[in-house]
Amino acid sequence: MKKQIALLPGDGIGQEIIHAAKDVLNAVAKQFNHTFVFQTYDIGGVAVDRHETPLPEETISACEKADAILLGAVGGPKWDVYPTHLRPEKGLLGIRKALGLFANLRPVKGFPELLHASPLKEEVVKGSDLLIVRELTGGIYFGKPSERRHDGKEVVDTLVYQRFEIERIVEKGFEAARLRRKHLTSVDKANVMESSRVWREVVEEKSRDYPDVEVEHLLVDAAAMKLITNPTQFDVIVTENLFGDVLSDEASVLTGSLGMLPSASLRSDGVGLYEPVHGSAPDIAGKGIANPVAMVLSAALMLRHSFQMEEEALAIEAAVESVLNEGYHTADLHVKNGKIVGTKEMTERLVDALSSTNATESIMNCYS
Ligand code: IPM
Ligand code: MN
Repeated sequence: MKKQIALLPGDGIGQEIIHAAKDVLNAVAKQFNHTFVFQTYDIGGVAVDRHETPLPEETISACEKADAILLGAVGGPKWDVYPTHLRPEKGLLGIRKALGLFANLRPVKGFPELLHASPLKEEVVKGSDLLIVRELTGGIYFGKPSERRHDGKEVVDTLVYQRFEIERIVEKGFEAARLRRKHLTSVDKANVMESSRVWREVVEEKSRDYPDVEVEHLLVDAAAMKLITNPTQFDVIVTENLFGDVLSDEASVLTGSLGMLPSASLRSDGVGLYEPVHGSAPDIAGKGIANPVAMVLSAALMLRHSFQMEEEALAIEAAVESVLNEGYHTADLHVKNGKIVGTKEMTERLVDALSSTNATESIMNCYS
């Protein structure tokens, strides 16, 4: 298969990790006989510097034409003092909105090799395997611009949801749960917020179409607590934009490092943007020590969700598993008796593991 992939490295460690994903994808292409054509575009702070906007028109139209998009990360202290419309984050929110990528999937699965690297007790995190389905193009992130103000005395952000926006993300949650362990936790703040009460109503309504899925409602504060005290109780969590943002960072520590978590941002037709959950880590940018795993696993999600290349996605995931198994990891992880390597070596090891995993399979096929 031939696929066009738009690369948006962005800021900070974005450049380094996109490179890693490209190397791994090139290895996949070679092994499975695909052609991946990469083209790079600006977004975030680099785009502000070069084009005076965090989201140039050229980037939007290239992403619209591409088969899928890989994004590194945006932001950094340099642009923190810029006015709102010139903030790198505007570029990220803008591309999600422009492409209508309303469904953000954030799988959180502990790697057995890293269990002890989690700040939580091993017996608490062991077996946790959950998926956060976060609404991505509505809510307080995109409140009515006319009502958003800050006049020195008063500051206003508005939270707006159209009913159809809630319905389509809740459906995604149910669909995802149906393919997993059939348990859906809907997270809201229905004891306080009107929008949450509508959210809960929609979940109840939709649940009639999914009698096979068990539904539970949790208030966001309780959900935050249970994620830490009993993470294995969760299968799929569906929630609105801001709650999903906060809970997914919290959930990421279950795996030992934020540097391990991939994400997929999708719309209904399969077009998707894939990016790590972590940010641009300006403090370690350019040092060659960034963890490429979340970015590489995001590329695996791209293969799975946008290209229907399940076998190829599994090959990448198996390569990550095998390199971690051998004890190699980047400095962000605190692994007992591990071997710390930089971004480049970690990537080379992933590429090597890809071909050897496949080699093992072919050997097994010979004997079967
Ligand atoms: C994320 C990030 C973004 C968000 C920021 C950078 C705008 O934290 O993808 O989780 O809040 O959505
Ligand atoms: Mn976030």
